[in-house]
Amino acid sequence: MPRIVAPSMLSADFGHLDRDTRMVHRSAAEWIHIDVMDGVFVPNISFGFPVLKAIRKASDKCLDVHLMIVGPERYVGRFAEAGADILTFHYEATADVRACIGLIRKTGARVGISVKPATPVGVLRDILPLVDMVLIMSVEPGFGGQAFIPEALQKIADLRAMARQQGLDTLIEVDGGISARNAGEIYAAGADILVAGSSVFGAADPEAEIVRMLEA
Ligand code: DX5
Ligand code: ZN
Repeated sequence: MPRIVAPSMLSADFGHLDRDTRMVHRSAAEWIHIDVMDGVFVPNISFGFPVLKAIRKASDKCLDVHLMIVGPERYVGRFAEAGADILTFHYEATADVRACIGLIRKTGARVGISVKPATPVGVLRDILPLVDMVLIMSVEPGFGGQAFIPEALQKIADLRAMARQQGLDTLIEVDGGISARNAGEIYAAGADILVAGSSVFGAADPEAEIVRMLEA
C-alpha cells in the first residue's frame, strides 16, 4: 500500500479556502481530509455541507470526510451528495454501528470507522470485514494543533495484525499531531494514510512539508 497524506482543511485559511484547496490539489497529497464537528460529540463546531461542496468544486481528489457528530446516520446521505468519497463516523457516536455502515454503503461512498484515543481497537474485531478503513485518533477529537498521543502506535500495530489475521487489507488512517517529524514511525507502525492539519498549513512551504511526510 503506497503512503498517502491527507491535509486537514480544518487548518486552512477560510478567507482563502479556494487558494488553500488549490494548493492541496497541486500537491503530492492524494486525499483531502474534511473535519465535521457538531458541538455535541466534540466541544467544537467546524463546518458542513456548503464548505464541503466548495472544496468539491475546486478539486477532484479523494474527499475524506471525518464526521465528529452524534447520530451520523442522520446525515450520511447529504454528505455523500455534497461530494464525500469516504465517510468516516465514530464508533462512539452511534447506537447502531452496523446500520450506519449499511447507510453509507447505500450512498456509494467508501466506509470508515473511527475510534477515540480511549477506545481499544478490539471493539472493531467483528466489524472489520464490513468497513474499508479505520481511523485511529492520535489526539482527542475536536481541535487541531494538539500533541500526538504515542499510545496510538501500538493501536495501529494491533489493528494491522487483526486485519491480517482476518485476511483483510483494511486501510488504516491516523489523525492528530502528525508532521514530517513523526510520520516515519507512524507509517512504519502500519498506517496507510496520515492526516495533517497544523503541520501542513502552518509550514512555510506546505507542499514541501507534504513531500517530507511522504518521504519520512
Ligand atoms: C481533530 C481533527 C483533525 C485535526 C488534525 O479533531 O480530526 O483532523 O484537523 O489537526 P492537527 O494535524 O493539527 O493535529
Ligand atoms: Zn480529522
